[in-house]
Amino acid sequence: MEIKRVKLVYFSPTGTTRKILESLTKGIGIEEVGHIDLTLPEGAQPNVPPFSDELVIIGAPVYGGRLPVTAINRFKQLKASNTLAIPIVVYGNREYEDALLELKNLAIDLGFIPVAAGAFIGEHSFATKDIPIANGRPDSLDVQKAMDFGTKIKDKIAALQSPGAPMNLEIPGRFPYEGGARAMVVSPVTKEDICILCGMCASVCPTSAVSVDGNVATRVEHCIRCCACIKNCPTGARVMEDGMWLKIANWLNQNCATRKEPQLFGVEV
Ligand SMILES: Cc1cc2nc3c(=O)[nH]c(=O)nc-3n(C[C@H](O)[C@H](O)[C@H](O)COP(=O)(O)O)c2cc1C
Ligand code: SF4
Ligand code: SF4
Repeated sequence: MEIKRVKLVYFSPTGTTRKILESLTKGIGIEEVGHIDLTLPEGAQPNVPPFSDELVIIGAPVYGGRLPVTAINRFKQLKASNTLAIPIVVYGNREYEDALLELKNLAIDLGFIPVAAGAFIGEHSFATKDIPIANGRPDSLDVQKAMDFGTKIKDKIAALQSPGAPMNLEIPGRFPYEGGARAMVVSPVTKEDICILCGMCASVCPTSAVSVDGNVATRVEHCIRCCACIKNCPTGARVMEDGMWLKIANWLNQNCATRKEPQLFGVEV
């Protein structure tokens, strides 16, 4: 089969998932690439026509060993009809547990046929300069692995006879799924003395939890702790100060420092 077009579908608050999907696409070497970015609040009601004969690369970060609930709800509005897909999760060098299996199964429910899948590593959302956790990833080695994976996927699809052929894609994970992001009603806070009221935090928030109008207000019950506002604030005014959150970040810093490598499924490695 020939890949005519590639569509990237993703939820990626801090951009690491998006970077992996783009690198993988470079390895496929196809020119016609569309982006369906479901990260921002408009992604809650995506107006996306059903997928048909394109290749869809669908990606999300891992939250608590699972897919973020926000991403699931947004992906669930997509429809496909025997469309070839590559499920990808990106995690912060701790573990991805059931997330890739969950994404593979969700993709099948939506009408996709997963051909290959991968778990990649990205800088942990909770990481800072002072509390590094996989900082700077995906790095050049990860990008190269994603590109090589893309090339292998292209070769695998080229050898396929028909789009509807079932694929035996074994993905690690438990079912029923376990884990999930911890229920914590906390959000980043704003250091008012260095905030320049630029509005960046509000514009990158996936759940409209932040508003900026004379001051920065956060609706803590809407915050999914994705850390997009922290990582995009130009002055460093958005920070996490919650004790439990800092404790988790420090634990990850101390216990997840050994570099993990991407795991690829459905191609020869
Ligand atoms: C609430 C929350 C929970 C997370 N849980 C995990 C986890 O279970 N395992 C892990 O390795 N990384 C975890 N991470 C880190 C993200 O998976 C990782 O930073 C990912 O690269 C973020 O993707 P993005 O840049 O596309 O937003 C978590 C991040 C957040 C915000
Ligand atoms: S992004 Fe930072 S500087 Fe800009 S409004 Fe938000 S907290 Fe203030
Ligand atoms: S307020 Fe919460 S949900 Fe919004 S960008 Fe910041 S961490 Fe993410």
